[in-house]
Amino acid sequence: MASTSRRLEGKVALITGAASGIGECSAKLFAEHGAKIVIADIQDQLGQAVCEAIGLSNSIFVHCDVTNEEDVKHAVDTAIDKFGKLDIMFNNAVILDPHKARVIDNEKADFERVLSVNVTGVFLGMKHAARVMVPARAGSIISTASVASNIGGLSTHAYTCAKHAVTGLTKNLAAELGQFGIRVNCLSPYAIATQLATSFLGINKETLENMASLHANLKGVTHETDDITKAALFLASDEAKYISGQNLFIDGGFGVTSPLFNMFQYPGNP
Ligand SMILES: NC(=O)c1ccc[n+]([C@@H]2O[C@H](COP(=O)([O-])OP(=O)(O)OC[C@H]3O[C@@H](n4cnc5c(N)ncnc54)[C@H](O)[C@@H]3O)[C@@H](O)[C@H]2O)c1
Repeated sequence: MASTSRRLEGKVALITGAASGIGECSAKLFAEHGAKIVIADIQDQLGQAVCEAIGLSNSIFVHCDVTNEEDVKHAVDTAIDKFGKLDIMFNNAVILDPHKARVIDNEKADFERVLSVNVTGVFLGMKHAARVMVPARAGSIISTASVASNIGGLSTHAYTCAKHAVTGLTKNLAAELGQFGIRVNCLSPYAIATQLATSFLGINKETLENMASLHANLKGVTHETDDITKAALFLASDEAKYISGQNLFIDGGFGVTSPLFNMFQYPGNP
């Protein structure tokens, strides 16, 4: 890519959960746009492979369990030691608990495990990013939320709760860090056939994509990891220099469409 069209030239990004799915694609796209990348994940072999695909001079893998503060601190410090700074923190790691529709069947331990990765992990990522971004008086912190950050009944109780919490953290941190020129936002995908989603539902990529399309508002396109990574690229770049505190929905209008919509269709409409 020509250096003039590279939107993250000279920037350094840390991405959690970058060994697969949205995180992996983001690492690759950010690197194409000139960023140096710290890939942080608990899947060492996959994370190292992403790093090798990007290039070892532009990226580094660190084993990082986002629930462990020492690991998160070490990942942020690695960005500083290896690349000199941290411009972009992308909190993207996630787990899901087993799908049990009735709350009375849900286990406290599963609930707490999900909150530990999906909320505490985001909090720690934000905290340690702020530690190095505040003195630099610049930075972009992005977290992956979900359509479940705003709507009930789409995922487990723990996951839905966690994604609502990510939007709360995003707003609170945007309020605190605005004075230092640091932007804080989150992204909310709809349903994409990553490892997370296919294993949760126990279906393959094609079946998931068909199911997602069937219930989607926007027809004729497939929702892919690219949709999220391009939005993350935008929020990470200087093009989004006045955007902070937002939850950007990349859901094709799913979250704003009433289930009653079809009742109000004009006769003759499809
Ligand atoms: N795929 C979807 O349909 C969808 C929809 C809405 C939101 N999201 C969000 O997108 C983000 C990425 O999800 P994905 O679909 O790419 O999932 P994925 O399972 O492909 O990737 C998640 C990554 O997180 C890592 N991870 C898990 N626990 C970790 C820990 N303790 N520390 C560090 N890393 C850990 C995993 O090893 C994995 O590489 C998540 O925040 C998810 O909630 C996904």
